[in-house]
Amino acid sequence: MPSFIFHTYGCQMNVRESEAAAKALLDAGFTAAPDEASADIIIVNSCSVRQKAEDKALGKLGLLCATKRERPNRVVGLMGCMAQRLGKEVFKHIPTLDFSIGTRCADRVAPAVMAAIHGEHTLAMSDLHAQPDAPTGHVTEGAFSAFVTILLGCNRRCTYCIVPDVRGDEWSRPARDILKEIEGLAAAGIQEVTLLGQSIMNYGLRTPAFDENEPPSPGGYTIPFPRLLEAVAAIPGIKRIRFTSGHPSGVTDELIRLYKEEPKLCHHLHLPVQSGSTTVLSRMRRGYTRTQYLEALARLRQAAPDIAITTDVIVGFPGETEADFEETRTLMEAAQFDNAFIFKYSPRPGTVSATWEDDVSEEEKSRRNHVLLDDQDARGRALNASLLGSTQTVLAEGPSLRNASRWSGRTSTNKIVIFKPYDGLQVGDSVTVKIGRVAPQTLYAEDCID
Ligand code: SAH
Ligand code: SF4
Ligand code: F3S
Repeated sequence: MPSFIFHTYGCQMNVRESEAAAKALLDAGFTAAPDEASADIIIVNSCSVRQKAEDKALGKLGLLCATKRERPNRVVGLMGCMAQRLGKEVFKHIPTLDFSIGTRCADRVAPAVMAAIHGEHTLAMSDLHAQPDAPTGHVTEGAFSAFVTILLGCNRRCTYCIVPDVRGDEWSRPARDILKEIEGLAAAGIQEVTLLGQSIMNYGLRTPAFDENEPPSPGGYTIPFPRLLEAVAAIPGIKRIRFTSGHPSGVTDELIRLYKEEPKLCHHLHLPVQSGSTTVLSRMRRGYTRTQYLEALARLRQAAPDIAITTDVIVGFPGETEADFEETRTLMEAAQFDNAFIFKYSPRPGTVSATWEDDVSEEEKSRRNHVLLDDQDARGRALNASLLGSTQTVLAEGPSLRNASRWSGRTSTNKIVIFKPYDGLQVGDSVTVKIGRVAPQTLYAEDCID
């Protein structure tokens, strides 16, 4: 049978959907290729969030399609957010592409591959207002961790963001489906789940919640997000729960209580701030002020003093002045982020801010980007250095990719730790190590400092 490989760009949702499409291909009898050169079928799962992400995917597709001259039977397909955004226009850019499948329909990939083998092109876009099926992927043998999508789409409509246009309306999966999926994952050996949603704390806010006086909804009930976390924690075999992305409005008393009381809830939260200037935040339509963001952070730190907070920041948003930028800089210092992803603003067609003048020059965006990267680099080093000599508990995840005689594991705060395994060590075992060396992205146990 022909073999396939995926190239996945963008966020974890795409990773999850590539897994789901891969499972369908395996079920249909295809095999996974060890590398791109040997693959008969190559599928690019694309991201639209910045123009650069689209350019990368288009460049890759162009190169892949060029190989079809020597290998006419090769199938090259596209899926994901850029496919959804471009629709049939993508065939103008890449005429020899075999198929293009939008978001929310990873189940169409396997049929499209089969059609392509018979020489037929497929173009399939989903209805972004319909209730979708969530993708459920397969579990790689011996895997420790899995993603589970609980909230699809997004209704926030931050003024710069393409995601609502390509991922559609916010829709919370019924709680019973999510719990059933995680029970299945746990039975297959998964011990850590990361729940996914664009603005995940909105889970259950817009779909019928459980109410004994209401007739059952055909799609099934949701339960409030903190209840869902508790229900996941109660599943035997699940040792750790992570979720992403957060929003300050979701840092409720109930969530704070869980950070204090639920040991399975990991002490790491990705809480994108985007800007430190309340003026810019309001033009971004983020729904919080600088002060509200910092207050949410203070509440989290009070509940879980060791919590690691990571973030996303956009520099060069339309109208961002030097003073606004300084506010971002000082907020990042005040917040003491463990890690930050810093992006240069990229106007996206059809969004509100794309109608505003993109008035911060490319040069200035790069400068601001570098200033924040340098600050964060220094901050990250100092935070890591403070862990030197500390004792950390990690859950073992398996042999390290770089050096198979060592194992890697992660702390609840999501730091990677390299350590020496002992006889009989198993994936998921809790290991306590003393940190002997720190590198920017990794901590090394005392016995692994060379
Ligand atoms: N749903 C997540 C973000 C998903 S997009 C959240 O709101 O928390 C991931 C990140 O890409 C965003 O947090 C933002 O920092 C960045 N981003 C989104 N649109 C962008 C644009 N038009 N230009 C530059 N960066 C952008
Ligand atoms: Fe985009 Fe805002 Fe939704 Fe995040 S919350 S996906 S930034 S619209
Ligand atoms: Fe990109 Fe789509 Fe995720 S636009 S960030 S892959 S939701």
